[in-house]
Amino acid sequence: DEEKATDDDKPIETLDDVVERIDYTGAQVWKVSTMKNNAQRLINQLASEKLIASWGGNHTSIDILVKPKALENVTAALKTKDISYYVMIEDLQQRINEENPPLDENELELQDRRGHRMTWKQYHRLEDIHGFMDYLAKTYPSIVSVKTIGKSHEGRDLKMLRISDGKPSNKAVFIDGGIHAREWISPAVVTYFINQFAENFDVESDDIKNIDWYFLPVVNPDGYEYTHKTDRLWRKNRKFGYGPSSCTGTDLNRNFGYRWGGKGASSYPCSDIYRGSGPFSEPESKAINDFFKSSAVKFSAYLTYHSYGQYLLYPWGYDNALPPDHKDLESMGKLIAQAIRNTGGSNYQVGSSSGLLYPASGGSDDWAKSLNIKYTYTIELSDTGRYGFVLPASYIEPVARENIAGVRVLARQLSKI
Ligand code: ARG
Ligand code: ZN
Repeated sequence: DEEKATDDDKPIETLDDVVERIDYTGAQVWKVSTMKNNAQRLINQLASEKLIASWGGNHTSIDILVKPKALENVTAALKTKDISYYVMIEDLQQRINEENPPLDENELELQDRRGHRMTWKQYHRLEDIHGFMDYLAKTYPSIVSVKTIGKSHEGRDLKMLRISDGKPSNKAVFIDGGIHAREWISPAVVTYFINQFAENFDVESDDIKNIDWYFLPVVNPDGYEYTHKTDRLWRKNRKFGYGPSSCTGTDLNRNFGYRWGGKGASSYPCSDIYRGSGPFSEPESKAINDFFKSSAVKFSAYLTYHSYGQYLLYPWGYDNALPPDHKDLESMGKLIAQAIRNTGGSNYQVGSSSGLLYPASGGSDDWAKSLNIKYTYTIELSDTGRYGFVLPASYIEPVARENIAGVRVLARQLSKI
């Protein structure tokens, strides 16, 4: 007789599971030049009218998502002001449909034999990522351990994985990903690092073995799952219930407790860059802070992976100021960028985050730097806007491969200090 599953065994069906997917048919993504005629102001205006949404930018241009119904109006507005733009994505939903094709027969077969379901040929659900981490801890107990450092707002594990041979002389590096839900390439790349180091630890160089590696590949698991189920382009976490506007979500990269609430962060809960009700008001950012506060480990580097734009950014982000050791950060950044390029890979621009992009306060990088973690970088992965957040899964391996070269150079440099 088959055992009857009790209600307790079933995953809780949340509202997200029954709500329909948001359809982006007819929506476009444009790269707009912001060099003249108050273009930035016009963009802000159009954004406040909800005709467009910002996908990010720098000092010369901004990428915007234009809603189908707004295409004519936005075209006209830009034309009148003689602002130039370029259509990067003609139909966003089409790109979303093609982004993450199913695995082929061969891959499915391999998947069954490996003991975990993770691949780097596809973007995976949280369950596969967490299953993979647990698998490594079980398979390599002498070097890999997993620890849940807290729970997300909706109760998902914030799962951290440590790789270490336990030598007391080791340095320590912390790497996270998935702070922003829609930046799928980030958890994919961080888990690729984990896989390489854990599966090949014996044959790794001393540079790698002399570091205790801490990985938190999905900082924002609720948002991540939401982008898989409901809205591919969700950025924030999923904590609901701030203010009369009753909008959902805080931008976790505006919620960290160093210079919280300054420039480039919004106090308006409906904004995509909402800072939260206070520093570390969100369980996800708070868990990271708590972990660092309670840990005796002295970290030499903190890397946080985002997308997109191909930048290596160092503090400060809150304003146009530089830390006293900015020259060290610049030269290490240059070495990392060069290592990435030398693989035949992409070009990454190096600079301070406020200088290269725009001031934005409450970022995890600034907070890490404020804890005296010297080599602190936000890495904006590929691409530069052709696909933007909707980077096809076939890019995971090349992007991860070129970036692990960067991590290896960092490890090399740390070994000399
Ligand atoms: N694209 C990232 C963001 O907007 C860049 C963060 C850089 N760091 C900073 N503290 N502003 O969140
Ligand atoms: Zn991001």
